Formats: sequence, C-alpha cells, structure tokens
Amino acid sequence: MSKKIVITGGAGFIGSHVVRRFVKQYSSYQIFNLDALTYAGNLENLKDIESAPNYTFIKGDITDEKFINELFEEQKFDSVIHLAAESHVDRSIVDPLAFAKTNILGTMVLLNAFKNLWQDNWSGKRFYHVSTDEVYGSLGNTGLFTESTSYDPNSPYSASKASSDHFVRAYGETYGMPYVISNCSNNYGPNHFPEKLIPLFINNIINNKALPVYGDGLFTRDWLYVKDHAVAIDLAFHKGNNSETYNIGGFNEWTNIDLVKLLCGLMDDKLQRPTGTSEKLITYVKDRPGHDLRYAIDASKINRELGWKPSVTFEEGLEKTINWFLENKDWLNNVTSGSYKEYYSNQYDKK
Ligand code: NAD
Ligand code: TYD
Repeated sequence: MSKKIVITGGAGFIGSHVVRRFVKQYSSYQIFNLDALTYAGNLENLKDIESAPNYTFIKGDITDEKFINELFEEQKFDSVIHLAAESHVDRSIVDPLAFAKTNILGTMVLLNAFKNLWQDNWSGKRFYHVSTDEVYGSLGNTGLFTESTSYDPNSPYSASKASSDHFVRAYGETYGMPYVISNCSNNYGPNHFPEKLIPLFINNIINNKALPVYGDGLFTRDWLYVKDHAVAIDLAFHKGNNSETYNIGGFNEWTNIDLVKLLCGLMDDKLQRPTGTSEKLITYVKDRPGHDLRYAIDASKINRELGWKPSVTFEEGLEKTINWFLENKDWLNNVTSGSYKEYYSNQYDKK
C-alpha cells in the first residue's frame, strides 16, 4: 500500500534512524523529511539514502504556520511522524521559551494543519507523536513508569513535551484525529549529538578532556539503542491502536557513574590505553537544577501487544556506538566545531 508520510525532525539523532528505516523498509511509501536544520539537525546523518527515489528533504520550521499550512495543503500527507523538537534538558534550563515555541507551538501548528486537511474524513490517517518518559517526572528508588502513570514533568523540556502530548490527545478527543503516542527512555547510538551524556563523554575521552559528572552521579536512566527505538516506532505506527500510548524502554537501568565507568573501560580497550586511563578523567561538577533522580520504563504493553523487545544488549549497543564514533571522526569534528565550542564553554567551564 502506498502512503505519503512526513517525518519531522528527520535530520536529528532519532529522526534520522526513523527516516532511514522507513525509506528502506517501505519502498512504496513516499517519505518526506521536514527539518529546520537547527544545531541538532545534520543532513550528513542521511547521506546514504539522500538519493533514494522515495525520499524527499524539505527544509522548514514547524512553528512557521503559513509555511506548514501551505505545505500540508500542497502535499496532502496522510500521516505525520513527529519528532522535531528541542531535546536537551540543559539547554531548556538556559532558554525555556525556545522549548515552548518548538515543542508546544510547533506541535500545535502541525496538528492544526493535519486537522484542516482531514477533519471531514480521517479514514486511513494517523498522527504519530514521539515523546519521552521524562513527562512522568522522577521515580524514587523503586517502581516503573507505566502508560497510566500521571504526568509530573520537572524540567522546561519535559514540561514542553508533556504539553505537546496533551495537545495530541486533545485533537484526538475533540476532532476525532487518529493518533498514537509513544514515550521512550534515553536513547543512545550512532549520530547522537555530543551534548548528551554518552556521546559527550565518548568525545571527551577521545580528546582526553574531563568527564563532567553532575552531582553525586547516582542518577539513574534506562538506556535504549536508537535503532531499537526506530523499530518500535515502525511497529506502533503500523500496528498500534488509535488513541493509545506505548511506553518504550530498554529494560536497562544504570546509574550515571556506573555507566560512565563501563564506558571508560570500553574506551580504554578500543583506544589501546592502559586500563584506568579514562576513569581518571571523571570530574564531579555542580548538579543540574531540578535533576530527576530516576527514570525507568515498564515496556510490557508494547512487548505484549506488538511483540517488540530490544534486539541488542547494552554492552553490544555501546560497543557498536563507540565503534561508530571512532569510525566517524569527521562527523564528530564537524558537529563540534563552530557554535558547539561556545555551548560547551557556557555549560561546563563555569561549573
Ligand atoms: P535531536 O535534538 O537530535 O533532533 C531534533 C531535530 O528536530 C533536529 O534535526 C532539528 O533540526 C529538528 N528541529 C528542531 N526544531 C525544529 C523546528 N522548529 N522545526 C523543524 N525541525 C526542528 O532530538 P532527538 O534526540 O533525535 O529526539 C527526537 C524526538 O524524540 C524528540 O521529540 C524528543 O523529545 C524525543 N525523544 C528523545 C529521546 C532521547 O533520548 N534523545 C528519548 C525519548 C524521546
Ligand atoms: P542526558 O544525556 O542529558 O539525558 P537526560 O537528562 O534527558 O536524561 O543526561 C543523562 C544523565 O547524565 C542525566 O542524569 C544527567 C547526566 N549528565 C551528567 O552527569 N553530565 C553531563 O555532562 C550530561 C550532559 C549529563
């Protein structure tokens, strides 16, 4: 069956893996990648598929209402897979309005353009919204987030994502828009922008720079290999039920400090440095304000209903990730030149 799908944020980390998967798996679909190419968007992520016959890139901002309305009117997309967002918690603390603009307003502009096209006949249409487990807030030392956990976001990032989730649901309830939402845990893997923990630390280890661990390092995250997230999105997009939420996670909780030590050991091996070299770079720095203690996902619903589970262990995924970064030093050098230096010094040199 043919479909015309617009994937927003397709030049970013997760979006590029989703775009690649859809372009390769579904040759009868027309895949449009709509991305503003902010600091986090990078067309190098998609070099291997850029000339595929079923792929089109469109540069554009999801907050630009006129542009989005005209684009949707012209292209009549039958589905949206929405990933475009400001995605880094630390940046949301510095510039919360930018997060409200893209994550809330941008999502609403897309919802509205989609509604205006199809509200008289929603048959065969779907708005798929990619969200985060951070909307559920912070867990104590026990318990898991399920799909019925109340929203309790703490950072401007998670509050903006929570808000966007609510608007997606509201369009479902009010206008009958068919939608699916998925809330996923922390991703890692190739093409991850080196502002987030794992790629930042890989880059710093390569360059013998300090590894800035926030607070006491005992914060816990559940980590999922990005390609497994793309598979989950593919499954939930095609087989998920309308108006449902699916939690996606790695069944893979690590405290930051244990994760960093594991990463240091793997990097010492890869770089053929004496054991313990990278761990010496660990530096405890001032904590992130409002830092959530623990995220942990109960992904049993998507497992039970759609048969999804992660395909790689954390050790396998981390090794693939490290290999990718070591084999793609040009990618890393390109994204860490220019404005990255200013970001890095504002974020870390004053800690
Ligand atoms: P990212 O920051 O790597 O990429 C975001 C992409 O969106 C970039 O290509 C950027 O250019 C684009 N973009 C930003 N503002 C835009 C705008 N106004 N108009 C059009 N495009 C714009 O993000 P990511 O880590 O790949 O996350 C993708 C989505 O998945 C986000 O919605 C995020 O909330 C969600 N998510 C991320 C994680 C994670 O661990 N990274 C986990 C769960 C959910
Ligand atoms: P991050 O990758 O920013 O993801 P999120 O905040 O969305 O979970 O951070 C993962 C964890 O690592 C989080 O507890 C904050 C911590 N962290 C550090 O200790 N140092 C760093 O330099 C960064 C970027 C994160």
